[in-house]
Amino acid sequence: MSHSLGSTPINVAILGATGAVGTELLQLLEERKFPIKKLKLLASPRSAGQSIKFRGQDLTVTAVDAAAFEGIDLVLASAGGSTSKQWAAIAVKAGAAVIDNSSAFRMNPNVPLVVPEINPEAAEHHAGIIANPNCTTILMGVAIYPLHQVQPIRRIVVSTYQSASGAGARAMAEVQQQSLAILQGQEPEAEILPYPLAFNLFPHNSPLNEQGYCQEEMKMVNETRKIFGVSDLAVTATCVRVPVLRAHSEAINLEFEQPWVIAQAREHIAQAPGVRLVEDWQRNYFPMPMDASGQDDVLVGRIRQDLSRPNCLELWLCGDQIRKGAALNAIQIAELLLERQWLKPSGQPLTLAS
Ligand code: A2P
Repeated sequence: MSHSLGSTPINVAILGATGAVGTELLQLLEERKFPIKKLKLLASPRSAGQSIKFRGQDLTVTAVDAAAFEGIDLVLASAGGSTSKQWAAIAVKAGAAVIDNSSAFRMNPNVPLVVPEINPEAAEHHAGIIANPNCTTILMGVAIYPLHQVQPIRRIVVSTYQSASGAGARAMAEVQQQSLAILQGQEPEAEILPYPLAFNLFPHNSPLNEQGYCQEEMKMVNETRKIFGVSDLAVTATCVRVPVLRAHSEAINLEFEQPWVIAQAREHIAQAPGVRLVEDWQRNYFPMPMDASGQDDVLVGRIRQDLSRPNCLELWLCGDQIRKGAALNAIQIAELLLERQWLKPSGQPLTLAS
């Protein structure tokens, strides 16, 4: 898909260029003809000197340091929370806008949390950093916001089936190695993920709070509230890692004030940007992670009335965690900033103390 911005080319840096999301960012910048004057590839010292092709040219990866951000207009950061905490403010000070894929700043009131299909206007007054939401939150938001616009959602109950890609490129490779080991009658080894994921699944292993929710589940609760602009929206989530390489799935139950006419709910979802309705009730064919992999759209199906409650709907989705769940959403934010000429900060000065 090509995307003409008609905009002056800018200097871009990718922080975490060698990772799963970094690799996808490069591909999307190329695919969408993002207007780039100069592209800088940054990672850890481990990858310094590595060569990566972009628009037919070999670019060399360099280890990130303070000088790396001089002359850069836009940083796309996807190198984990601690790396973002270390470098984002330095990049902003050097004059760059940072679109950050980590969770480091998402709940900071000074940092917009943006899904362009939902709250593009939130990106207008930033202080240098704009956060890209958590992957499961983005996928769910894009699918259910079209309904929320017609009739406010009162409660969300979601269960996720999350692929290995959410834990990075090395986790994906680990699941493949574990699968091979098991098929050859050997013990699977787990180093990146806490337990073997091949032929297995486990509740998301992010830290647990006192109420028994893991961090990933609380991201879905808090980030959805911030993106939808509904601070008391009732959300409860159960997040599970499954042996799928790169697309997440979610089973979602939504409660509304009034019952829906199902055909109308289906129509709103079918017409929404970033969503594709995938439902073949005759063949029992609905979204699958294999079909969602590499796709921009979130695939939604099995939209049905909840038998147990008249005001509730059930639906199922699959979305590419690396694309819309991360890299694509970040690029769409960047495109939004360029199109609306919002790249330069116009919000309150950046304060990152939480
Ligand atoms: P590197 O390949 O040099 O380790 P993933 O999410 O797929 O695991 O990728 C993480 C990305 O973040 C990689 O590009 C990785 O680079 C980069 N990264 C990890 N730690 C740092 C760090 N301390 N400084 C800069 N980049 C980092």
